[in-house]
Amino acid sequence: MIEKKVQDQVNDQIQAEFQSGWLYLAYAAWFEERDLDGFGNWMRIQWQEEQEHGMKFYDHILRRGGEVELKDLEKPTVEAESVVDVFEAVLAHEQYITKRIHSLYDMAREEGDYPLQTLLNWFIDEQVEEEEMAESILERLKMVADDSAALYMMDQELAARSPQKDGEEQQ
Ligand SMILES: [Fe+2]
Ligand SMILES: [Fe+2]
Repeated sequence: MIEKKVQDQVNDQIQAEFQSGWLYLAYAAWFEERDLDGFGNWMRIQWQEEQEHGMKFYDHILRRGGEVELKDLEKPTVEAESVVDVFEAVLAHEQYITKRIHSLYDMAREEGDYPLQTLLNWFIDEQVEEEEMAESILERLKMVADDSAALYMMDQELAARSPQKDGEEQQ
């Protein structure tokens, strides 16, 4: 059994996770249009992971006898002039999601909702990883600057990223 107030906010988070996925897919296209397929691969994996995140909240509601409400997704806006711009935006986006997860956690605590707190513990760790990963790519990109050979090497490296299974460390 899940309280209506809690359920509403979890439904909003389902939307936020799928919206994140939509944004990553738009970035995948941005890179692939520029023949940076390794970065595109990295973004496609993010897209898949965000859908898995959305589904964790979806399953959570259903397992507790609640009702899932799927909401509209917005068209993602990609206004990037450079690869650095993209990763600045990715980092800012993940920081925004972290804030949302933390306020969901506060709400779950106030409402005495223990199962949701347990689920959110996983998300709190996941957000640390998401920010860490975006930040480390961003820092390296800043070092690379306009060196296209170095950018090409990073692209090759990101091409090797494969989808992880739950509980595995990300690269
Ligand atoms: Fe997510
Ligand atoms: Fe994410």
